[in-house]
Amino acid sequence: MEKKLNKIAKDTNIFLKNFFLRQKKSNLISPMKYGMFPGGKKIRSKLIIDIGKIFKIKYEKLIQVAAAVECIHAYSLIHDDLPCMDNDNLRRGKLSAHKKYGEATAILAGNSLLTIAFEILSSENLKIKTESKIKLINSISKCSGHSGIAGGQYLDLNFERKKVSKKKIEIMQIKKTGKLFSFCCMAPVIISKKFNYIKVFEDIGEKIGLLFQIVDDLIDLKGNSKKAGKKTKKDMKKGKATLIRALGYKNTVDYREKLKLNIINRIGKFGNRGKDLKETIDYIVDRSK
Ligand code: IPE
Ligand code: IPE
Ligand code: MG
Ligand code: MG
Ligand code: MG
Repeated sequence: MEKKLNKIAKDTNIFLKNFFLRQKKSNLISPMKYGMFPGGKKIRSKLIIDIGKIFKIKYEKLIQVAAAVECIHAYSLIHDDLPCMDNDNLRRGKLSAHKKYGEATAILAGNSLLTIAFEILSSENLKIKTESKIKLINSISKCSGHSGIAGGQYLDLNFERKKVSKKKIEIMQIKKTGKLFSFCCMAPVIISKKFNYIKVFEDIGEKIGLLFQIVDDLIDLKGNSKKAGKKTKKDMKKGKATLIRALGYKNTVDYREKLKLNIINRIGKFGNRGKDLKETIDYIVDRSK
């Protein structure tokens, strides 16, 4: 798994580095690159490749879509760390973008990374049918805005220090994290034009994203800051509405296991073709063990 993940991370970064080389000079290139490289685990990219394999999509096309997703993800992290949001100074083992470049520059670099995602997906260099391209852009837009990341981040901040129900926490986490995962799972299906599979993968993606966020919350509680590349033990202090706070640690671990089984069962029907995807699910959960 590590080997496959490293290769995907390397190939996504090569694509993005070349993309930046072709950009006109601007003062935001440097802070954008700072937020982008060397970058994180690239777990979202791995999901795109895994599901791309099920639908037999060419690796190069998948890497381009992955690059777009990683831009949106990097943007969301830059903004997530801002003082008006989570106020975190450490990200991916180095200073958060706003600590390095100042808040205004970090916000603008984040905005620019968001729009680069659309530039990559709408580019002529992405050799897929126009109809699929429009569907991809339509879908990633919905997953990033008020019904996805931005809307979920709003709820995350709004729920701080409040008593929030399990259902509302699930909705918040599916928006802020699940929707982008959902896009990753739908993208290969959209490219293959097997539209009757979209709903299935939209749903699997939301569940994988929810699982990923629960694991991230568990890592915040029990994990090591050096390994995580960001400060841990912060959610409790901030009064973040997590399932750990609503249900307790043990129940959250049980919830994680049940959710994992549910996802693995759904993948089961793809047999051997779903092997890499299953491996990714194991990897996600094992991070919190
Ligand atoms: C962190 O995402 C933010 C969450 C949605 C929990 P990742 O853990 O994927 O961050 P990187 O890309 O590996 O740094
Ligand atoms: C962030 O969740 C989710 C995003 C959409 C950025 P967290 O706030 O838990 O992510 P970390 O722990 O700071 O990486
Ligand atoms: Mg946050
Ligand atoms: Mg945060
Ligand atoms: Mg977290």
